Amino acid sequence: MEFKDLVKERRSCRSFEGEGVSEENLNAILDAGRWAPNPLNLQPWEFIVITDGETKRGIKGVAEEARKKVLDNSGPGWVDKYDMGFLEQAPVLIAVLYDPKKSGLGTFFGQEHGALQAASACIQNMMLCAADMGYGSLWFTWFEPQRLKELLNIPEGREIAGVIPIGRPSGQSKPPPRKDPRVYQNKYGDEGA
Ligand SMILES: Cc1cc2nc3c(=O)[nH]c(=O)nc-3n(C[C@H](O)[C@H](O)[C@H](O)COP(=O)(O)O)c2cc1C
Repeated sequence: MEFKDLVKERRSCRSFEGEGVSEENLNAILDAGRWAPNPLNLQPWEFIVITDGETKRGIKGVAEEARKKVLDNSGPGWVDKYDMGFLEQAPVLIAVLYDPKKSGLGTFFGQEHGALQAASACIQNMMLCAADMGYGSLWFTWFEPQRLKELLNIPEGREIAGVIPIGRPSGQSKPPPRKDPRVYQNKYGDEGA
């Protein structure tokens, strides 16, 4: 697909068909991830590829706990209706981890998030690659990090940038509208003539 179309046609997918993701396609998605820009080329990411039903169910359980926290703390009521079935439906979930110590020189001058920024670029690369091959994907973050680390045996010193379900989309979701971004000229606040 033309890149300009691809960036617009990639859609967050919350409903999947049963068809799996072939090893070849999965490797292509992971490969796209590792070509993301990253500080000092430290490549701070690691991946856990989850296909096992019990682990997926566990992730859904951790997400349900996060939902309960939102509701118990007077968060928005709509979260009650958010269907998390896709966490079990999707044939594969990729947990994208990063090592925050691999954040590059930014840590010397007040920029602490280089590794997370790189992991985020990595996720976007993977999602665009998946979309190009006709897969739906989602950047999923409804979890308390510590609970998910326990479930997935993630050691100290690693953080989770997201869990990415990937599979053939069931149905087509409408694109959420985008606003015109504010664009300033030379200095913040100056919108030009
Ligand atoms: C950092 C990040 C976290 C997100 N977490 C969730 C999530 O936990 N659950 C979810 O359904 N969507 C999540 N999303 C997806 C957004 O809701 C989605 O990208 C946005 O509504 C725009 O829709 P689109 O991706 O189809 O263009 C997340 C997106 C980002 C970038």
